[in-house]
Amino acid sequence: MKILNSILIIGLSLLTSVTSIAQPTKGGKKISSDLFGLFFEDINYSADGGLYAELVQNRSFEYNPTERSEWNPFSYWEYISPGFSYGRISVETSAPVHPNNPHYLVMDVEHVGNEVKFVGTSGVGLKNSGFDGMVVKANDQYNFSMFVRQLSKDPISFNISLQTPKGKVLAESKITTSSGEWTNYTASLIPTQSCDTASLVILATIEGKFAIDVVSLFPEKTFKNRPNGLRADLAQMLADMKPGFIRFPGGCLVHGDGLGNMYRWENTIGPIEQRKEQRNIWGYHQTAGLGYFEYFQFCEDIGAKPLPVLPAAVSCQNSGGTWRIGGTGQKAVPMDEMKDYIQEVLDLIEWANGPVTSVWGAKRAAAGHQVPFNLQYVGIGNEDKITTEFEQRFKMIFDAVKTRHPEITVVGTVGPAPDGEDFTKGWKIADDQKVPVVDEHYYTSPEWFISNQQRYDAYHREATQVYLGEYASWGNKLRNAIAEAVYMTSLERNGDVVRMASYAPLLAKKNFTQWKIDMIFFDNTVICPTPNYYVQKMFSANQGDYYFDKVITKDEKDQLLAASCVQDSKTGDIILKLVNYNETAKPMKINLGKFGKTAAEAEQSVLAGNPDAENAFENTSAIAPTSSKVKISKSFDFSAPAMSLTVIRIKTKNK
Ligand code: AHR
Repeated sequence: MKILNSILIIGLSLLTSVTSIAQPTKGGKKISSDLFGLFFEDINYSADGGLYAELVQNRSFEYNPTERSEWNPFSYWEYISPGFSYGRISVETSAPVHPNNPHYLVMDVEHVGNEVKFVGTSGVGLKNSGFDGMVVKANDQYNFSMFVRQLSKDPISFNISLQTPKGKVLAESKITTSSGEWTNYTASLIPTQSCDTASLVILATIEGKFAIDVVSLFPEKTFKNRPNGLRADLAQMLADMKPGFIRFPGGCLVHGDGLGNMYRWENTIGPIEQRKEQRNIWGYHQTAGLGYFEYFQFCEDIGAKPLPVLPAAVSCQNSGGTWRIGGTGQKAVPMDEMKDYIQEVLDLIEWANGPVTSVWGAKRAAAGHQVPFNLQYVGIGNEDKITTEFEQRFKMIFDAVKTRHPEITVVGTVGPAPDGEDFTKGWKIADDQKVPVVDEHYYTSPEWFISNQQRYDAYHREATQVYLGEYASWGNKLRNAIAEAVYMTSLERNGDVVRMASYAPLLAKKNFTQWKIDMIFFDNTVICPTPNYYVQKMFSANQGDYYFDKVITKDEKDQLLAASCVQDSKTGDIILKLVNYNETAKPMKINLGKFGKTAAEAEQSVLAGNPDAENAFENTSAIAPTSSKVKISKSFDFSAPAMSLTVIRIKTKNK
């Protein structure tokens, strides 16, 4: 009988869990399920020295003076010769590890001195302190690798170590070469002690000559332990936002500083020593170690749809000279090269979605991803000047993708501002060509966001949809974030025409920024999220796919008050977002009458405080949301705190 009872209970609970899959409540408007996502651009040292976990700076000796006048292939390396040793170094290009990676270092070790007390191992070699010092943790594993080609007859022995600034050895390993061909040697280093300012030291301890390139050091503990992976703490901050999509790799970085500098996705896949490094438009170096494979992998790891953006075969209109001042302007890929260029765009779709038997699908599989990435969106162009050259090329690419891949949603571009010439011309192309989605950008005052909440109410419902690909109000104070929250409720209300939206820029390394207002600041050890981060997170981690009006009553004449109600049809949860940009608390009324049975208790998060408050490295959580459980009834009064965003997530009991 007991057994029968348990079977009955299991059966009943199975039935309950099956039948309790929520149905969207009647009366809701279907909105985009991809509404809130992330825009990642390699600006402000977001990639190398940032999200990309590589600890060695200038690992391939490819830095050069076009990036920074003081840079050269030996930048961030130090020649060392402890123990009265001596030798010679040169940078050469005649027989590189790969043609895409032309520079390498040649070292001639002429004399290795005797081991000297207090100096440590004698030899001739190199030291790299990474991006302002390497952060290493006691007992964690660090994976070292380097390509070496022996140029003298006998094998070369190396001592590889991690050292403090004072030369204390934290971890040590030995490598001996075995070939006159480029060979990848690896070692693992486990520091005995943590250090935020460590250096990597490579010492040849035997006389002889060798070439060295692609010297790399990665923590084993990257995000999800991926090799060639991402800095775990930063990646986790992004994962916590539960973004619907990630747009990458830019921004202006995409269309580049002149034609030769456009971001070409094919150069960023495959083994790291075969990737093409280059200066980025923001004036520093990109190794492309964080390349298309890693972007797609990260999207998959955190359940976000990938949104790669490719140049529309024109370079940035601000190309040349100093960023945004003068320069050569927009340049277009010559017409007789467009066939190849279009093929490159089509190849990306095959690389992402094609079977392993296809040419490009096989390259994806070779990188370790057999199954397709399920790419749905491709962006063509980034806030380009809408010239005849742009228009011709955009149409050619758009037509090719539409014909060959009707399953792909193309995202076009309508200039850098919420209105004006490029905006109007870009929208005309979108209307004429029936482009499915276009990318709007605006960086402006908090007041603009408050007074433009009705912007998308007036957009045509049956025409091109909007991707608000870059937006931010001018500041990282709480008031900026709350102004954005006000506006974001209008994006939800218009989620039938606004398909996606992403704040910009995302990441910024302290003391290495090119853009002042950003979402997350960081240095090598500390992450400082802004109030804007929390607003983005509160919206993106609480997305719905049905919008409901008339649930929240408030003073409709008060433009500083905003609210939205959505339901997530996967969970059945009802999500209220209640925003008050006033400097005093304001009343609202909530009526959940249309939602059937709801839980008596709900999760509530509140972001509130002094309008001028912001987070700083000295106090990274001056402004952060607080969470609590609150009692909920069918209809209840709510007092929205001054300068606040409140999110209330309510479970339903729809059967
Ligand atoms: O987000 C920073 C920059 O702003 C982007 O690169 C560009 O698209 C815009 O002008």
